[in-house]
Amino acid sequence: MPSTPTIPRDLSSWLDAHDADAFAQLNEFLRIPSVSARSEHNADTAAAAGWLHAALARIGFTVETLPTPGHPVVLAEWRKAGPNAPTILIYGHYDVQPAEPLELWTSPAFDPTVRDGKLFARGSVDDKGQLWAHVMALAAHLDVRGRLPVNVIVLAEGEEEVGSPNLAPFIEKHMIRLACDAVVISDSAMFAPGIPSILSSLRGLAYFEVTVRGPSGDLHSGMYGGAVVNPAMALARALATLHDAKGRIAIKGFYDKVKPFPAAVLKGMRALPHSDARFRKEIGVRALGGEAGKTTLEKLWTRPTCEINGLLSGYTGEGAKTVLPGEAMAKVSFRLVPDQRPEVIERLFKAHLMRQLPASSGVTVKVTALHGGRPWRADLDGPVFDAARIALRAAFGRAPVIVGEGGSIPVVGDFERILGAPVLLVGFGLPGENAHAPDEWIGVRNFRDGTRTMAMLYEEFAARHAAGA
Ligand code: BES
Ligand code: ZN
Repeated sequence: MPSTPTIPRDLSSWLDAHDADAFAQLNEFLRIPSVSARSEHNADTAAAAGWLHAALARIGFTVETLPTPGHPVVLAEWRKAGPNAPTILIYGHYDVQPAEPLELWTSPAFDPTVRDGKLFARGSVDDKGQLWAHVMALAAHLDVRGRLPVNVIVLAEGEEEVGSPNLAPFIEKHMIRLACDAVVISDSAMFAPGIPSILSSLRGLAYFEVTVRGPSGDLHSGMYGGAVVNPAMALARALATLHDAKGRIAIKGFYDKVKPFPAAVLKGMRALPHSDARFRKEIGVRALGGEAGKTTLEKLWTRPTCEINGLLSGYTGEGAKTVLPGEAMAKVSFRLVPDQRPEVIERLFKAHLMRQLPASSGVTVKVTALHGGRPWRADLDGPVFDAARIALRAAFGRAPVIVGEGGSIPVVGDFERILGAPVLLVGFGLPGENAHAPDEWIGVRNFRDGTRTMAMLYEEFAARHAAGA
């Protein structure tokens, strides 16, 4: 076993000395409610971009805020490491999910508060806190040593939480400028406290809104019920056909392109210390569901799914109202695995619903695709992954595990495809972090160790790149 690497002393002392300042600034960033999905927050989203722009300029980067048809991209560059040094592109997002339901937050969503070693706020872990860890690592190098060991591009977008609709065209347009040797992203979680993790896969996404319409308006359920097809019932029946009794998705052709995960990856997954009992407890359920015959981690990381994300129809207020609703709506999304494609899933899903609810059924169905992204899988070979293994070991005192992830970061595949660079995903969130939910938090200690990891990663990557060149 090689001796445990350690974070360079000058950098870690600087980070210790600037710890309070790092959190004070992060709190400022977190106070800006940059909810990309809500147009009433457009000014806040722009303010978050402006705040980040200023922060990156302050540490010595050349920064531009570039418009897109939606929220802008903050693009910061530091390219003085020399022509032989590698270039790292750090990607993150400054937008956040809506904070509702607000009443379920213990402290207000946009008033960052530390309790029990956790910093609570919307965006603390997803993704402002993780992005900020990178910025602090860069600041340490620049302030202590006056330079970085690698050329660095920071690309922060404001539309990740709405499916990054404008980012692939942006990367294509700026392909030459964004050319790099590795993309580094911290927008995910570690497997468990104290167990640093490198991500080897993400699921893709295909998200739809389904509307079923019946009579031209709401009807009295006594005067009409029994003789008129109820759109809420029709939609519920159609949705119920999406899975079979074994938890598999019952859409024709759905699994055709699913490529099995390599045996070594599955073996690694089975060796991880996962406990179903702990997992159930964390989310407050007595039993788990899903496909029969698969382990929980296999279900979460390697298998495609179909979920109802929202349902709306009829009377949902206090008390009773005897109504036969004129329409019903559902939000339905699929998580995809290699080599499924969102466009193909859209075609198959529409065909399935049309078969369930044909013109003769008494209702009409309309399906709108909202957003999608391809699944991703890495092979984890090369200098940036080796550098990450060393840096994580130095910061966390143990070797990282390789994990999969059920969530999606659609742009990861785009980076790989357009820039031809490997993508390293190292996240510093933790299970139970409440991303997208009330009481989102990032572990204070994880923020610190994440910052140290990054400070060391740049150096290790430069050294390995030089050795390999
Ligand atoms: N940070 C998450 C993605 C993620 C979640 C990665 C968990 C690893 C672990 C990201 O901000 C996110 O929530 N993405 C959305 C994508 C969607 C809006 C296109 C998701 O997965 O639902
Ligand atoms: Zn998110």
